[in-house]
Amino acid sequence: MRRAIVTGGASGLGADMATALVAAGYQVGVMDLDRERTEAFCSLLGNSVPLVASVSDSVAVEAAFAEFGEAPDLLINNAGIVRVGPLHEQSVTDYIQVINTNLLGPSLCSRVAAKGMISRGSGHIINITSVNGIHPAPGVGLYAATKSALHSLTQLMSIEWGPLGIRVNSIAPGFIDAGMSKPFFENQKVRDKRSSGVPLRSLGEASDITNAVLFLDSEQAKYITGNEIVVDGGVTNSVFAHLPRE
Ligand SMILES: NC(=O)c1ccc[n+]([C@@H]2O[C@H](COP(=O)([O-])OP(=O)(O)OC[C@H]3O[C@@H](n4cnc5c(N)ncnc54)[C@H](O)[C@@H]3O)[C@@H](O)[C@H]2O)c1
Repeated sequence: MRRAIVTGGASGLGADMATALVAAGYQVGVMDLDRERTEAFCSLLGNSVPLVASVSDSVAVEAAFAEFGEAPDLLINNAGIVRVGPLHEQSVTDYIQVINTNLLGPSLCSRVAAKGMISRGSGHIINITSVNGIHPAPGVGLYAATKSALHSLTQLMSIEWGPLGIRVNSIAPGFIDAGMSKPFFENQKVRDKRSSGVPLRSLGEASDITNAVLFLDSEQAKYITGNEIVVDGGVTNSVFAHLPRE
Protein backbone atom coordinates (compact mmCIF):
# COMPACT_ATOMS: atom_id res chain seq x y z
CA MET A 1 0.00 0.00 0.00
CA ARG A 2 1.38 3.42 -0.94
CA ARG A 3 1.18 6.12 1.71
CA ALA A 4 0.78 9.83 1.01
CA ILE A 5 0.61 13.09 2.94
CA VAL A 6 -1.46 15.89 1.41
CA THR A 7 -1.00 19.32 2.99
CA GLY A 8 -4.08 21.53 2.96
CA GLY A 9 -5.88 18.25 2.35
CA ALA A 10 -9.13 18.96 4.19
CA SER A 11 -10.71 21.16 1.51
CA GLY A 12 -10.55 22.32 -2.10
CA LEU A 13 -8.07 20.68 -4.46
CA GLY A 14 -6.30 18.86 -1.61
CA ALA A 15 -9.54 17.17 -0.49
CA ASP A 16 -10.16 16.00 -4.05
CA MET A 17 -6.60 14.58 -4.22
CA ALA A 18 -6.97 12.87 -0.82
CA THR A 19 -10.29 11.31 -1.86
CA ALA A 20 -8.88 9.97 -5.14
CA LEU A 21 -5.74 8.64 -3.45
CA VAL A 22 -7.78 6.73 -0.83
CA ALA A 23 -9.97 5.35 -3.65
CA ALA A 24 -6.78 4.25 -5.44
CA GLY A 25 -5.69 2.29 -2.34
CA TYR A 26 -3.34 4.77 -0.66
CA GLN A 27 -3.32 5.52 3.04
CA VAL A 28 -3.47 9.32 3.30
CA GLY A 29 -2.27 11.73 5.98
CA VAL A 30 -4.42 14.85 5.72
CA MET A 31 -2.44 17.79 7.09
CA ASP A 32 -4.52 20.90 7.74
CA LEU A 33 -5.06 23.71 10.23
CA ASP A 34 -8.41 23.10 11.86
CA ARG A 35 -8.70 19.98 14.04
CA GLU A 36 -12.49 19.58 13.87
CA ARG A 37 -12.68 20.00 10.08
CA THR A 38 -9.69 17.73 9.43
CA GLU A 39 -10.94 14.96 11.73
CA ALA A 40 -14.46 15.17 10.29
CA PHE A 41 -13.08 14.96 6.74
CA CYS A 42 -10.89 11.94 7.58
CA SER A 43 -13.71 10.06 9.28
CA LEU A 44 -15.75 10.36 6.05
CA LEU A 45 -12.74 9.56 3.88
CA GLY A 46 -11.73 6.22 5.38
CA ASN A 47 -8.12 5.03 5.16
CA SER A 48 -6.60 8.31 6.40
CA VAL A 49 -4.95 10.02 9.36
CA PRO A 50 -5.78 13.60 10.41
CA LEU A 51 -2.56 15.55 10.96
CA VAL A 52 -3.28 18.93 12.51
CA ALA A 53 -0.41 21.31 11.80
CA SER A 54 0.47 24.50 10.05
CA VAL A 55 2.99 23.79 7.29
CA SER A 56 4.96 26.85 8.38
CA ASP A 57 5.45 25.64 11.96
CA SER A 58 8.56 23.46 11.90
CA VAL A 59 7.87 21.85 15.29
CA ALA A 60 4.26 21.00 14.38
CA VAL A 61 5.40 19.66 10.98
CA GLU A 62 7.97 17.33 12.58
CA ALA A 63 5.33 16.11 15.04
CA ALA A 64 2.79 15.50 12.25
CA PHE A 65 5.26 13.45 10.19
CA ALA A 66 6.22 11.49 13.33
CA GLU A 67 2.53 10.79 14.01
CA PHE A 68 2.14 9.43 10.45
CA GLY A 69 5.01 7.02 11.13
CA GLU A 70 7.38 5.96 8.35
CA ALA A 71 8.02 8.64 5.70
CA PRO A 72 5.26 8.80 3.10
CA ASP A 73 5.91 7.44 -0.41
CA LEU A 74 4.30 10.64 -1.72
CA LEU A 75 4.20 14.14 -0.24
CA ILE A 76 1.91 16.66 -1.91
CA ASN A 77 2.74 20.23 -0.89
CA ASN A 78 -0.69 21.59 -1.70
CA ALA A 79 -1.50 24.04 1.13
CA GLY A 80 -1.45 27.56 -0.23
CA ILE A 81 -3.03 30.95 0.41
CA VAL A 82 -3.57 34.15 -1.50
CA ARG A 83 -4.01 37.72 -0.27
CA VAL A 84 -5.93 40.06 -2.54
CA GLY A 85 -4.99 43.73 -2.94
CA PRO A 86 -2.41 46.03 -4.51
CA LEU A 87 1.18 45.04 -3.83
CA HIS A 88 2.05 48.35 -2.14
CA GLU A 89 -1.04 48.34 0.07
CA GLN A 90 -0.77 44.83 1.45
CA SER A 91 0.43 44.57 5.04
CA VAL A 92 3.74 43.11 6.14
CA THR A 93 1.66 40.35 7.77
CA ASP A 94 0.10 39.53 4.38
CA TYR A 95 3.58 39.29 2.86
CA ILE A 96 4.89 37.07 5.64
CA GLN A 97 1.87 34.76 5.74
CA VAL A 98 1.96 34.14 2.00
CA ILE A 99 5.70 33.44 1.96
CA ASN A 100 5.44 31.23 5.07
CA THR A 101 2.56 29.14 3.75
CA ASN A 102 3.44 28.91 0.06
CA LEU A 103 7.22 28.68 0.17
CA LEU A 104 8.56 28.04 3.69
CA GLY A 105 5.80 25.43 4.29
CA PRO A 106 6.70 23.19 1.33
CA SER A 107 10.40 23.59 2.25
CA LEU A 108 9.80 22.44 5.85
CA CYS A 109 7.53 19.53 4.89
CA SER A 110 9.89 18.37 2.12
CA ARG A 111 12.88 18.63 4.44
CA VAL A 112 11.29 16.29 6.98
CA ALA A 113 9.84 13.91 4.36
CA ALA A 114 13.13 13.73 2.45
CA LYS A 115 15.08 12.49 5.45
CA GLY A 116 12.89 9.38 5.72
CA MET A 117 12.66 8.99 1.92
CA ILE A 118 16.45 9.16 1.64
CA SER A 119 17.00 6.48 4.27
CA ARG A 120 14.47 4.27 2.45
CA GLY A 121 15.95 5.15 -0.96
CA SER A 122 12.64 6.15 -2.56
CA GLY A 123 10.00 8.85 -2.50
CA HIS A 124 8.09 11.39 -4.56
CA ILE A 125 7.20 15.01 -3.83
CA ILE A 126 4.66 17.04 -5.80
CA ASN A 127 4.50 20.80 -5.29
CA ILE A 128 1.27 22.54 -6.29
CA THR A 129 2.33 25.76 -7.96
CA SER A 130 0.15 27.93 -10.23
CA VAL A 131 0.03 29.45 -13.69
CA ASN A 132 0.58 32.68 -11.74
CA GLY A 133 4.12 31.48 -11.12
CA ILE A 134 4.66 31.50 -14.91
CA HIS A 135 2.78 34.74 -15.71
CA PRO A 136 2.23 36.87 -12.58
CA ALA A 137 -1.28 38.22 -12.13
CA PRO A 138 -1.56 41.71 -10.59
CA GLY A 139 -3.60 42.33 -7.44
CA VAL A 140 -2.62 39.20 -5.50
CA GLY A 141 0.49 40.38 -3.70
CA LEU A 142 3.37 37.94 -3.39
CA TYR A 143 1.35 34.91 -4.55
CA ALA A 144 2.99 34.69 -7.98
CA ALA A 145 6.48 35.22 -6.61
CA THR A 146 6.04 32.37 -4.11
CA LYS A 147 4.73 30.00 -6.79
CA SER A 148 7.57 30.80 -9.15
CA ALA A 149 10.04 30.23 -6.32
CA LEU A 150 8.28 26.98 -5.42
CA HIS A 151 8.92 25.62 -8.90
CA SER A 152 12.55 26.67 -8.58
CA LEU A 153 12.61 24.67 -5.34
CA THR A 154 11.13 21.70 -7.23
CA GLN A 155 14.03 21.87 -9.67
CA LEU A 156 16.58 22.19 -6.88
CA MET A 157 15.16 19.28 -4.87
CA SER A 158 14.99 17.12 -8.00
CA ILE A 159 18.73 17.52 -8.65
CA GLU A 160 19.85 17.23 -5.01
CA TRP A 161 17.59 14.31 -4.14
CA GLY A 162 17.26 12.50 -7.51
CA PRO A 163 20.51 10.57 -6.92
CA LEU A 164 19.04 9.54 -3.52
CA GLY A 165 15.93 7.99 -5.07
CA ILE A 166 13.45 10.89 -4.82
CA ARG A 167 11.47 12.36 -7.71
CA VAL A 168 10.15 15.92 -7.33
CA ASN A 169 7.65 17.57 -9.66
CA SER A 170 5.27 20.54 -9.78
CA ILE A 171 1.71 20.84 -11.01
CA ALA A 172 0.57 24.33 -12.04
CA PRO A 173 -3.23 24.64 -12.03
CA GLY A 174 -4.86 27.27 -14.23
CA PHE A 175 -8.39 28.66 -13.73
CA ILE A 176 -9.97 25.92 -11.61
CA ASP A 177 -13.61 26.01 -10.57
CA ALA A 178 -12.85 24.76 -7.05
CA GLY A 179 -11.10 25.71 -3.83
CA MET A 180 -9.89 29.27 -3.42
CA SER A 181 -11.14 30.30 -6.89
CA LYS A 182 -14.67 28.97 -6.52
CA PRO A 183 -16.15 32.16 -4.97
CA PHE A 184 -14.54 34.22 -7.74
CA PHE A 185 -16.15 32.05 -10.45
CA GLU A 186 -19.59 32.19 -8.82
CA ASN A 187 -19.96 35.53 -10.63
CA GLN A 188 -21.30 34.46 -14.05
CA LYS A 189 -19.72 37.45 -15.81
CA VAL A 190 -16.26 36.58 -14.46
CA ARG A 191 -16.82 32.93 -15.28
CA ASP A 192 -17.80 33.65 -18.90
CA LYS A 193 -14.97 36.13 -19.46
CA ARG A 194 -12.34 33.86 -17.98
CA SER A 195 -13.55 30.72 -19.81
CA SER A 196 -13.72 32.51 -23.14
CA GLY A 197 -10.04 33.48 -22.80
CA VAL A 198 -8.95 29.86 -22.39
CA PRO A 199 -8.08 28.00 -25.61
CA LEU A 200 -10.15 24.98 -24.45
CA ARG A 201 -12.98 27.44 -23.62
CA SER A 202 -13.75 26.20 -20.13
CA LEU A 203 -12.62 26.39 -16.52
CA GLY A 204 -10.79 23.40 -15.08
CA GLU A 205 -12.14 21.03 -12.45
CA ALA A 206 -10.46 19.77 -9.27
CA SER A 207 -10.29 16.32 -10.89
CA ASP A 208 -8.10 17.72 -13.69
CA ILE A 209 -5.42 18.47 -11.09
CA THR A 210 -5.98 15.21 -9.22
CA ASN A 211 -5.58 13.23 -12.45
CA ALA A 212 -2.19 14.87 -12.99
CA VAL A 213 -1.23 13.81 -9.44
CA LEU A 214 -2.27 10.20 -10.13
CA PHE A 215 -0.31 10.16 -13.39
CA LEU A 216 2.84 11.69 -11.85
CA ASP A 217 2.80 9.20 -8.99
CA SER A 218 2.32 6.21 -11.33
CA GLU A 219 4.88 3.84 -12.84
CA GLN A 220 4.19 5.53 -16.20
CA ALA A 221 5.88 8.69 -14.86
CA LYS A 222 8.87 7.00 -13.21
CA TYR A 223 11.39 8.89 -15.39
CA ILE A 224 9.80 12.32 -14.92
CA THR A 225 11.41 14.63 -12.36
CA GLY A 226 12.07 18.35 -11.96
CA ASN A 227 9.15 19.19 -14.25
CA GLU A 228 6.09 21.35 -14.00
CA ILE A 229 2.91 19.97 -15.55
CA VAL A 230 0.73 22.91 -16.51
CA VAL A 231 -2.98 22.01 -16.28
CA ASP A 232 -4.64 25.12 -17.67
CA GLY A 233 -6.59 24.44 -20.89
CA GLY A 234 -3.78 26.18 -22.78
CA VAL A 235 -4.19 29.64 -21.24
CA THR A 236 -0.53 30.11 -20.28
CA ASN A 237 0.52 29.86 -23.92
CA SER A 238 -2.19 32.12 -25.28
CA VAL A 239 -0.76 35.62 -24.89
CA PHE A 240 -0.72 36.28 -28.64
CA ALA A 241 -4.34 35.17 -28.96
CA HIS A 242 -5.27 38.14 -26.76
CA LEU A 243 -3.23 40.86 -28.47
CA PRO A 244 -4.90 42.83 -31.26
CA ARG A 245 -3.17 42.35 -34.62
CA GLU A 246 -3.50 46.02 -35.61
N1 LIG B 1 -8.19 26.74 -6.96
C1 LIG B 1 -7.47 27.23 -7.95
O1 LIG B 1 -8.00 27.73 -8.94
C2 LIG B 1 -5.98 27.18 -7.90
C3 LIG B 1 -5.27 27.65 -9.03
C4 LIG B 1 -3.88 27.62 -9.00
C5 LIG B 1 -3.21 27.10 -7.90
N2 LIG B 1 -3.92 26.66 -6.82
C6 LIG B 1 -3.16 26.12 -5.68
O2 LIG B 1 -3.72 24.90 -5.28
C7 LIG B 1 -3.50 24.72 -3.88
C8 LIG B 1 -4.80 24.37 -3.20
O3 LIG B 1 -5.65 25.49 -3.30
P1 LIG B 1 -7.25 25.41 -3.12
O4 LIG B 1 -7.82 26.15 -4.25
O5 LIG B 1 -7.68 24.03 -2.87
O6 LIG B 1 -7.38 26.33 -1.82
P2 LIG B 1 -8.33 26.18 -0.56
O7 LIG B 1 -8.26 27.50 0.13
O8 LIG B 1 -9.67 25.66 -0.96
O9 LIG B 1 -7.62 25.05 0.32
C9 LIG B 1 -6.39 25.27 0.91
C10 LIG B 1 -6.29 24.37 2.15
O10 LIG B 1 -5.01 24.62 2.73
C11 LIG B 1 -5.19 24.77 4.13
N3 LIG B 1 -4.10 25.59 4.66
C12 LIG B 1 -3.92 26.93 4.51
N4 LIG B 1 -2.83 27.33 5.17
C13 LIG B 1 -2.30 26.22 5.74
C14 LIG B 1 -1.18 25.99 6.57
N5 LIG B 1 -0.38 27.00 6.96
N6 LIG B 1 -0.94 24.73 6.98
C15 LIG B 1 -1.74 23.70 6.62
N7 LIG B 1 -2.82 23.87 5.84
C16 LIG B 1 -3.11 25.12 5.42
C17 LIG B 1 -6.54 25.43 4.30
O11 LIG B 1 -7.04 25.26 5.61
C18 LIG B 1 -7.35 24.70 3.22
O12 LIG B 1 -7.91 23.50 3.72
C19 LIG B 1 -2.86 26.01 -3.36
O13 LIG B 1 -1.47 25.85 -3.27
C20 LIG B 1 -3.20 27.01 -4.45
O14 LIG B 1 -2.27 28.05 -4.50
C21 LIG B 1 -5.29 26.69 -6.79
